[in-house]
Amino acid sequence: MDSKSKINLKKLPRHIAIIMDGNGRWAKEQNRPRIYGHHNGVKSVREATEAAAELGIEFLTLYAFSTENWNRPITEVTALMTLLVETIKKEVKTLNKNNIRLQAIGDLSKLPQKSHKALLRAIEDTANNTRMTLVLALNYSAKWEIVEAARKIATMTKAGKISEVEIDETIFSNALATKDIPDPELLIRTSGETRISNFLLWQIAYAELYFTDTLWPDFRKNHLYEAILNYQSRERRFGKISEQLSK
Ligand code: IPE
Ligand code: IPE
Ligand code: MG
Repeated sequence: MDSKSKINLKKLPRHIAIIMDGNGRWAKEQNRPRIYGHHNGVKSVREATEAAAELGIEFLTLYAFSTENWNRPITEVTALMTLLVETIKKEVKTLNKNNIRLQAIGDLSKLPQKSHKALLRAIEDTANNTRMTLVLALNYSAKWEIVEAARKIATMTKAGKISEVEIDETIFSNALATKDIPDPELLIRTSGETRISNFLLWQIAYAELYFTDTLWPDFRKNHLYEAILNYQSRERRFGKISEQLSK
């Protein structure tokens, strides 16, 4: 039996988040420039998106560019931004054909104008799609998001819209960039690195973490199936003990 058919469709995560890592190392292995790896990572984005949508996953979030990634050599940053515009423009048709809605989280206003415009356009053009939501984390960092949320709540409090005692987890969650998105149950990171790199710190409080040595440009549908199967084999206890869980 292949991995896909072993998946229990009744126990799917609603939301999968992926830290797409290893493009540079993949290119280096072939003595090619790092950007060659990024270009080849686009196919993996397509595969992961298609596989998730076909299974019935509701949300797929992909970490595409962190606020820390601005510190890379300028040539790489520029090439990544160009690739982003090109890819987004090219993929809108497919997203619409597959009924997939695009959204983005991060400090989008700091993206180069061209990338920002292409992104907003694609979000608008896919806004009515209902099968799955693909969320791109762009110029995103969890610490940035959390500080922004604190600022929003402070403003609401100062304006008298809420009082300090009312601030709770729901109000905080609703002040985050992910406010209409359920927390991911499964977080995947490729390339063998086992860190979070400033991704969704609040939202992954109870996510199952899955690390694979596969480099992102090698990631295919089957890798997603394997990750989901691994997730389904785990016992999620949420602080309780095994015996309390209904099997
Ligand atoms: C992930 O691959 C893509 C981005 C961070 C934009 P990397 O570019 O980080 O690849 P490695 O980690 O250097 O191999
Ligand atoms: C994390 O990957 C960011 C993205 C995948 C966009 P990095 O390659 O930038 O992470 P670090 O710097 O190795 O932790
Ligand atoms: Mg990396």
